[in-house]
Amino acid sequence: MNKKNSVFIATSLDGYIADKNGGVDWLHSIPNPDNDDMGYLEFTNSIDAIVMGRTTFETVCGFDVDWPYTKPVFVLSNTLHEIPQSYKGKAYLVKGKLTEILEEIYAKGLFRLYIDGGTTIRNFLKADLIDEMIITTIPVLLGGGIPLFTELPKSLDFECAAAKLFLGKVVQNRFVRRR
Ligand SMILES: NC(=O)c1ccc[n+]([C@@H]2O[C@H](COP(=O)([O-])OP(=O)(O)OC[C@H]3O[C@@H](n4cnc5c(N)ncnc54)[C@H](OP(=O)(O)O)[C@@H]3O)[C@@H](O)[C@H]2O)c1
Repeated sequence: MNKKNSVFIATSLDGYIADKNGGVDWLHSIPNPDNDDMGYLEFTNSIDAIVMGRTTFETVCGFDVDWPYTKPVFVLSNTLHEIPQSYKGKAYLVKGKLTEILEEIYAKGLFRLYIDGGTTIRNFLKADLIDEMIITTIPVLLGGGIPLFTELPKSLDFECAAAKLFLGKVVQNRFVRRR
């Protein structure tokens, strides 16, 4: 089975994934009357599991909606000691070296992974462990917040495999790592 670590994320025009208060309301700033999911369902159908940072997990738990994932979610955390009762059987705690965490997940037969959360994505990129990034750019300048990208130990080449315009206002690019 081919292993693939993918990012599917929305950023502001200036590259932030959350605003100065950690909020993501701006993600819904473009009118979307028909609830176009901009390829999200198709993407999530193509993955086996999700690996997300503790902050993103807690953000999702705080949304006033049912658990939105149908695939197992592996939550990275050094501080959380237990997954809250209502998420047991859906989410699992993992910690440690990323390569060891990946081996632990592969051993369960899960190979195509959706990597989510700012710190988490940046750490995967630092270790050159991201194969694909689908980035939806919301045309707003937030002026600060949690950045998607920061410094890397070395430059990483990607190629743009697709570019789509949604709602006449939102660009989504799919970048594939050139190895
Ligand atoms: N724009 C979007 O589409 C989008 C998508 C996802 C998230 N977000 C937003 O981004 C924000 C979250 O980003 P974030 O930068 O805080 O990062 P995050 O990656 O969600 O969470 C960071 C936490 O993950 C844990 N972690 C990361 N790597 C680990 C490792 N190897 N071992 C153990 N634990 C590890 C640590 O938790 P501990 O501190 O517990 O050790 C760390 O503090 C939220 O505001 C969320 O709403 C936006």
